[in-house]
Amino acid sequence: MIMNTAAITAQMRKLIAQLKQHNHAYYVLDNPLLEDSEYDQLRQELVALETAYPELVQSDSPTNQVGDKPLPFFTQVTHQIPMLSLGNLFTFDDLQNFMRRVNDRLADHQQNPEYEVELKLDGLAVSLLYQNGQLTQAVTRGDGQTGEDITQNVRTIRNLPLQLAIDIPRLEVRGEVLMPKAGFAKLNRDAQAKGEKTFANPRNAAAGSLRQLDPNIAKSRPLAFYAYSVNQGLPAEITTQSDALFWLQALGFSISDIKIVQTAEQLQAYYQSVIEQRSRLPFEIDGTVIKVNSLALQEQLGFLSREPRWATAYKFPAETVMTRLNAIEWQVGRTGQLTPVGKLEPVNVGGVTVSNVTLHNIGEIQRLDIRAGDMVSVHRAGDVIPKVTRVWQDERPANAQVVSLPTHCPVCDSPVIMPEGEALARCTGGLFCPAQQQEALIHFVSRKAMDIDGLGERWLINFFEQGIVKNVADIYTLNNHRDALINLEKLGEKSVDNMLAAIEKSKDTTLPRFIFALGIGGVGETTAMNLAMQFGDLQPLMAASIEALQKTPDVGEKTADSIFEFFRAEHNIEVINRLLQAGIHWQPVSQVPEGNQPLKGQSWVITGTLEGMGRDEAKAKLQALGAKVSGSVSAKTTALLAGEKAGSKLANAEKLGVKVVTEAQFTDLLNSYHA
Ligand code: IVH
Repeated sequence: MIMNTAAITAQMRKLIAQLKQHNHAYYVLDNPLLEDSEYDQLRQELVALETAYPELVQSDSPTNQVGDKPLPFFTQVTHQIPMLSLGNLFTFDDLQNFMRRVNDRLADHQQNPEYEVELKLDGLAVSLLYQNGQLTQAVTRGDGQTGEDITQNVRTIRNLPLQLAIDIPRLEVRGEVLMPKAGFAKLNRDAQAKGEKTFANPRNAAAGSLRQLDPNIAKSRPLAFYAYSVNQGLPAEITTQSDALFWLQALGFSISDIKIVQTAEQLQAYYQSVIEQRSRLPFEIDGTVIKVNSLALQEQLGFLSREPRWATAYKFPAETVMTRLNAIEWQVGRTGQLTPVGKLEPVNVGGVTVSNVTLHNIGEIQRLDIRAGDMVSVHRAGDVIPKVTRVWQDERPANAQVVSLPTHCPVCDSPVIMPEGEALARCTGGLFCPAQQQEALIHFVSRKAMDIDGLGERWLINFFEQGIVKNVADIYTLNNHRDALINLEKLGEKSVDNMLAAIEKSKDTTLPRFIFALGIGGVGETTAMNLAMQFGDLQPLMAASIEALQKTPDVGEKTADSIFEFFRAEHNIEVINRLLQAGIHWQPVSQVPEGNQPLKGQSWVITGTLEGMGRDEAKAKLQALGAKVSGSVSAKTTALLAGEKAGSKLANAEKLGVKVVTEAQFTDLLNSYHA
């Protein structure tokens, strides 16, 4: 993009103003308004402009400054040795370049030095001074030159030695104070319970705890200190960074994991393994820190203005990134649910390119006030699916579009409904909608529905994919394609005939099975049975009003809506008519008189094999008559329906004196109610 000088300067000023605001929020108020990665993105944008147009660099640019001015309340202490920052790497290429630069700077005979790799702990840097073995001073990094004296607070940290076992006149140890994840979660839970302010992340909680003027508060917080360098007082015989840390460990300091590597490949492998362990570590880390292990070589390499040449951070890919949401599309799931999907300007989040993000439902879109064209923050951590965590309303372009729920399915054009009180919208074209057909087919042939066991799921999907079966009605036209089916690979004459026979047999069905097979949202097996008993046949059910539907036991408002809409969708009616024309039939069911639940208050248990009906069917019938059906016999059981091969439940019922009903008696009982 070509920009003129004024536009570039204006963009720089805008970024500087934003960065300053965020620096203040982060360093002074301990209350960041952005994720670190979002901050880095803004900062990188400024750095890129400054690199391309060095003549326009603004004198107050925060890019050449570490941190922010210290708070006025604590005593200020000037660091004897400035506390610097680290450069950042993000890719393997960056890593190789870093190592090359190190090699270029070293004297010829010292190529490819050994590196020590540490975890980049996400807390705040603190310098500790021990005089004659006693902790006498603890100072924050501040702006790198001057920090705050927080000795009283640091003394409360429990994994930190206050008194060393050796008597060294002056020892300066630097490291990170952090709050472990578990302690952070508990702190926020407690704060929430008390209606107090919660912290954005463990690092802010740690920083906030150390900035308390009352050390009792710091004492009550679960802080920990991990050492990462000795800046004064290291015994001369220690010549490497790793040995310096082991020495500190022996003195009672905690240190994080250490790894020694020789090559970029080894380092990369370690970095990857740390990414994998990251979520299981007890504290937050945001990368690894790579250090030339030899202290003599470190000295030879020296420093750039604000960072060492011998060390750098190899950061993890950002887990929260800003990008543009170009459009919102609606996806129809296999069960007819409509889900809004954000189409993103592709962006790398957590190491993976993300171009789609689920927005869950229309309520979520409204809650976040997301519009097509908005700048958004996308978060992805570990294996968790990416999500939009924020909408940048200030950056909203004039042409951003408000998105509403479509009235018709984007796949099949059937009406879309959103039952009241529900967050999810669904397409009503269940039997017809291509997005739902595969699922509808599998459900239709399943054991509790049309029970076509000769037509297995695998073949059904195969026919669907080949376009031979598009919807459930096409199953009953398969007999017209006998020859074509026989010619399909791995499907012989015999199996085709068995399949066709099973399909033919399924035409003789029951009304509850057929209703269940339609796959109407909210209509399971029991509801299908209840509907069959309530309406007696299909036609009255199809014609029923929402009020009439709601009179059926176990049909609430949502299910009534869903049934009503299902039978209003023209496409569904077409498919049902084709099924009936193919010869699917059943015996009408005798209706239960309205409000008649003769077994209400009774508790039944079913055991053994029933000849005439499945146990599920018996269960549904009992429930329709008002009985509860439970899994085990107790003194409270009204009756046990016992089929063939009844076992321990029968013995139990006899022991407890519970009435035992045979299948024949049960059928008589049902007939007596339905007559
Ligand atoms: S060494 C001169 N080692 O990262 C180099 N720093 O971005 C001094 N940090 O201010 C830093 N873990 O707060 C070092 N293992 C580690 C670290 C670490 C976290 C922090 C530290 C530093 C910041 C630089």
